[in-house]
Amino acid sequence: MAEFNPDQLTDAVLRSFAGTPDPRTRGVLSHLIRHLHGFVRDAGITLDEWHHAIDFLTRTGHLSGESRQEFILLSDVLGVSMLVDALHHAGRGAATETTVLGPFYVGEHRVLPHGTDLAPESPGERMWVDACVTGSDGQPIAGATIDVWHADSDGLYDSQKPGYRPGRPAQRGRFVTGSDGRFTFRTIVPRSYPVPTDGTVGELLAAAGRHAMRPAHIHFLLSAAGHAPVTTHLFIAGDPYLDSDAVYGVKPSLIVRLVPHDEPTWPDGTPAPARWFALGYRFVLTKEITT
Ligand code: BEZ
Ligand code: FE
Repeated sequence: MAEFNPDQLTDAVLRSFAGTPDPRTRGVLSHLIRHLHGFVRDAGITLDEWHHAIDFLTRTGHLSGESRQEFILLSDVLGVSMLVDALHHAGRGAATETTVLGPFYVGEHRVLPHGTDLAPESPGERMWVDACVTGSDGQPIAGATIDVWHADSDGLYDSQKPGYRPGRPAQRGRFVTGSDGRFTFRTIVPRSYPVPTDGTVGELLAAAGRHAMRPAHIHFLLSAAGHAPVTTHLFIAGDPYLDSDAVYGVKPSLIVRLVPHDEPTWPDGTPAPARWFALGYRFVLTKEITT
């Protein structure tokens, strides 16, 4: 019977996985074992600490299901989601930069007419969004689909509120671009908000003395036939958390400045509040690479 010292043990484990038939799985497992053993060795993990880690991950799993995904949140606050995003989306040329999907996308939204107010019952400053979707050549893309969602002035998504009814969405909708590639909607100006802290991720952030805030943003999920989809946000310039997003999702190209207006009507001619803000942006989709 073999007896191993720590280095021999790592080699023995690597050898026992060396016959994994699928080459990609074999390669990934080999990295996983090397790094995991290296982590335990370098950090000098004790038995108590390992039990604590297993308990933490078990509780994270128990908090993860259809309505909440604590593992995604863990990946987000450890920066792994954005690392995978950065590696996966390298070399996409002129395409709009991507960022995390986040846990509050509830699946396909209902298609709404341009100009729809996404937040008629929500308090907050009012905003008009006028955006367009083009290819990297600047030509408008007609028929592009855009899902939009954001938090309310309490920093909560509709799906986080007690009594949430999927049939009565708030601050979310889907738009389809016209022949000019444009889509427009009204909503409230989003505010910065904390990621959920009532679970294991909250424990981790508290232990590290880290805040849980995300700078104010709107989520966009864009897709068009023949083009690579883009999952992204637009962040509001001037937000105090732009430099310390709890999930590392901010990219300078995604920060937009709101322009204040006091005209009595919205751009579509309907009556506007005394003061409103305009947000304009051009999203770029690049052709899908088929291999
Ligand atoms: C969000 O922006 O909705 C979000 C993203 C990552 C973690 C938590 C929330
Ligand atoms: Fe969000």
